[in-house]
Amino acid sequence: MHLVSRIVLTVAAAVAAVSAGLSTSGVEALVERRLPQHASSFQFKLVNLSTAANDSYVVSNIDDGKILVQGNTLSALLSGLHSYLTNVVHVDIWWYIGSRLDVAPVTMPCLSSPLMGTSVVPYRYHFNTVTTSYTSAFWSWEDWELQLDWMALRGINIALAWTGVEKIFIQVFQEIGLADDEIQDFLSGPAFLAWNRFGNIQGSWGGPLSYAWVDDQFAMQLKIIRRMGELGMIPILPAFPGFVPRAITRVYPDVNVTNGSTWEDFAVTYTNDTFLNPFDPLFAQLQKSFIAKQKAYYGDVTSFYTLDQFNENSPASGDLAYLASVSLNTWKSLKAADPDSIWVMQGWLFTSSAAFWTNDRIQAFLGGVPVDSDMLILDLFSESQPEWQRTDSYYGKPWIWCQLHNYGGNMGLYGQIMNITANPVEALRHSSSLVGFGLSPEGQEGNEIVYDMLLDQAWYSNPIDTEEYFHNWVSSRYESVSLPHGLYAAWDMVRTTVYNNTNLIANAVPKAIFELVPSTTGLLNKTGHHPTQINYDTSVLIEAWSLMYGAGIDNPYLFANPSYQYDIVDWTRQVLSNAFIPMYQQLISIYTNTSTPCRTSRIRGQGSRMIALLETVNDVLATNDNFKLSTWINAARAMANTTADADFMEYQARVQVTLWGPHGEISDYASKSWAGLVSSYYVPRWEKFVDYLASASVYNKTAFTAELLQSAETWVEQTERTVEKETRIEDVLAQAVKQWPHILIV
Ligand SMILES: *[C@@H]1O[C@H](CO)[C@@H](O)[C@H](O)[C@H]1NC(C)=O
Ligand SMILES: *[C@@H]1O[C@H](CO)[C@@H](O)[C@H](O)[C@H]1NC(C)=O
Ligand SMILES: *[C@@H]1O[C@H](CO)[C@@H](O)[C@H](O)[C@H]1NC(C)=O
Ligand SMILES: *[C@@H]1O[C@H](CO)[C@@H](O)[C@H](O)[C@H]1NC(C)=O
Ligand SMILES: *[C@@H]1O[C@H](CO)[C@@H](O)[C@H](O)[C@H]1NC(C)=O
Ligand SMILES: *[C@@H]1O[C@H](CO)[C@@H](O)[C@H](O)[C@H]1NC(C)=O
Ligand SMILES: *[C@@H]1O[C@H](CO)[C@@H](O)[C@H](O)[C@H]1NC(C)=O
Ligand SMILES: *[C@@H]1O[C@H](CO)[C@@H](O)[C@H](O)[C@H]1NC(C)=O
Ligand SMILES: *[C@@H]1O[C@H](CO)[C@@H](O)[C@H](O)[C@H]1NC(C)=O
Ligand SMILES: *[C@@H]1O[C@H](CO)[C@@H](O)[C@H](O)[C@H]1NC(C)=O
Ligand SMILES: *[C@@H]1O[C@H](CO)[C@@H](O)[C@H](O)[C@H]1NC(C)=O
Repeated sequence: MHLVSRIVLTVAAAVAAVSAGLSTSGVEALVERRLPQHASSFQFKLVNLSTAANDSYVVSNIDDGKILVQGNTLSALLSGLHSYLTNVVHVDIWWYIGSRLDVAPVTMPCLSSPLMGTSVVPYRYHFNTVTTSYTSAFWSWEDWELQLDWMALRGINIALAWTGVEKIFIQVFQEIGLADDEIQDFLSGPAFLAWNRFGNIQGSWGGPLSYAWVDDQFAMQLKIIRRMGELGMIPILPAFPGFVPRAITRVYPDVNVTNGSTWEDFAVTYTNDTFLNPFDPLFAQLQKSFIAKQKAYYGDVTSFYTLDQFNENSPASGDLAYLASVSLNTWKSLKAADPDSIWVMQGWLFTSSAAFWTNDRIQAFLGGVPVDSDMLILDLFSESQPEWQRTDSYYGKPWIWCQLHNYGGNMGLYGQIMNITANPVEALRHSSSLVGFGLSPEGQEGNEIVYDMLLDQAWYSNPIDTEEYFHNWVSSRYESVSLPHGLYAAWDMVRTTVYNNTNLIANAVPKAIFELVPSTTGLLNKTGHHPTQINYDTSVLIEAWSLMYGAGIDNPYLFANPSYQYDIVDWTRQVLSNAFIPMYQQLISIYTNTSTPCRTSRIRGQGSRMIALLETVNDVLATNDNFKLSTWINAARAMANTTADADFMEYQARVQVTLWGPHGEISDYASKSWAGLVSSYYVPRWEKFVDYLASASVYNKTAFTAELLQSAETWVEQTERTVEKETRIEDVLAQAVKQWPHILIV
């Protein structure tokens, strides 16, 4: 059979599976939840539209004033609804800010002509395995509900569903006779499960993973899976990848296992996970048990299984026959457990371990799976480091074009609007096995516009006009078409600059340099995993900020709008972070020039200005719960029933955003500009640094970093927090503008 028709058949089968027996009640329930006053304003109808296999919708008025949404799938209906809500009513549902759909007017606007859409791809995908730790580790059901509504309305019809999978792992391991302490020796803590699931780390520092917490997560998963089905989203469930407790050899002395590689700077105790080779018969046995348990809990909800064995983890051998045997036997185990199974794999390894993954190795590994349509590869970083061209479209395996955008939920303003519009369209024209567009962010952060944009690109066969797109997005962001001109102008200014990075050496969201361990060298223009390079003229952002702020000053109603509150904090954060850079450079040049008159006092003076700026940053962030460390910590604590458990959860929360390991193994990778974190973690580091430079001793980076590590290890153990006083962004900004007239130029 021709490749394309086979993929289309798979897709048609998947769509049919989703639609089969489903009513529109999940869509109606979403309207009830988010637009209760309009529960009867809409009518939804599943119909067979004449277009091809991909999702299509038509939205029109009917005689009694209702809005009729017709579509061939639930996802099409939700996309049609979203198109009406954003393009006609100008309301939406947002990350962090929440649902603003309820501000829709009492009388829904009439359509002058029907809205129509047809997706150019069968799949719109969401999530990176690590998003489940960086973003949703401490989510409540309310958070999940918001997330799933966000996804469904944006047309996502397939997404990872990892929550609570440890319950399945525990049962599978218990079944073969592993003891609970042996299992806990393998499982990682609540904030680090993603990397345990990848086989990068094992075990939990600071205390074991609690089974009660796992049970709670699993109860959440049952709700998530049900809701995904109601909203037309296919859950991609985990499968057994092969990582097992070390004690497996106690139970099965002859089992064929190999140790995975060391990940980052972790001690062997916490990494080098034990990998059960897929050609060992025990692998298929565990796979069968794993998948059967999920089917028993969830029903027959999916054929898609996420399974990664070599994500930042080297195979025991680069031998082509070994690699082909791993994938062939893994595939066989999946097919034996579920004959319809499709193996979903993150393609990140081909980027991150490009030296190992030569084309012949990739071809051997992917070629081990004899049926192309039994795999689905996520081209994880398509906007910057696509792998589909060099692999000739993954040698025929279906794949999805994904935007990664950020590492570790870093927070800088950033986007690649050219690459996320022109490039996926081009890929669709040139790759016959491309079946979807999707999002694979490490964390959900700000910059929501570029996530929206790629998902919307999935409904257009030509690159989106970004100017028009930004204009319309701003209207629904702030819920009006008659916003002050300055607000549109501000966003248009960042569109062509901040959001149009084309420098692919620095190709992900940057972090503020003050989030890194202070040092006399190495903080500026960093690329790679702790990126700090700014790719635009920072004076342009100041100008745009001034327009956005001015719009609020002239139209105070904006300061009451949660989206505006969020955005002005986010933009101010960026302007101040940028301003910190030249202040830092000045500090270093005073320090390095030993003939500077009054050098010590000038170091101290400059240091004080820098600390004062960080205090302003903290004050600005503290006006908004979405930018607070306490929000993250409180969510973690809320999952526990006892103080001891809550303290452990807090430790997890603190470690992830700072040390990232018991002893700073990946320090500051997932750093955040959060109130409370700036004041209690970054500021003390900079104070120590300034003290150090001003002291007589010679600067020794190794010694200084070791000293900071010690303080950090104390900080992560703390549980007391200063209660932030309630402040209003407009008051804090008025003060900041007075204090920093050369930075916040009005
Ligand atoms: C769409 O067509 C299929 C097969 O042609 C049929 O089974 C299904 O019932 C139709 N669905 C609707 C909503 O008309
Ligand atoms: C459906 O998606 C496929 C990509 O898998 C694409 O080739 C096809 O043109 C799309 N159909 C429509 C009607 O857009
Ligand atoms: C907290 O208590 C509730 C009610 O007894 C229980 O269902 C839940 O599993 C407990 N969770 C944890 C993490 O201890
Ligand atoms: C595991 O299998 C590999 C490949 O067949 C073989 O080389 C190796 O010796 C085996 N190891 C053990 C411990 O059985
Ligand atoms: C795997 O690592 C453990 C220690 O973590 C060690 O005891 C064991 O010998 C190693 N196994 C192999 C096959 O290298
Ligand atoms: C851990 O992995 C590294 C390779 O990254 C290897 O050199 C080392 O021997 C492994 N240690 C164990 C105990 O398996
Ligand atoms: C991103 O877009 C720029 C500008 O159009 C282009 O030069 C670059 O090749 C694109 N990057 C990728 C990875 O395709
Ligand atoms: C984005 O930058 C590229 C390269 O500098 C330029 O060619 C393109 O016109 C810019 N696009 C927008 C929308 O600013
Ligand atoms: C960082 O990059 C900017 C812009 O390319 C450049 O002007 C500056 O000199 C660089 N600074 C350092 C320390 O490399
Ligand atoms: C160091 O400072 C002195 C005194 O201010 C100045 O004359 C000299 O140019 C500076 N040197 C450098 C390399 O900036
Ligand atoms: C820097 O500090 C480290 C750790 O304290 C020490 O081992 C090293 O000798 C010091 N280097 C210099 C040049 O003093």
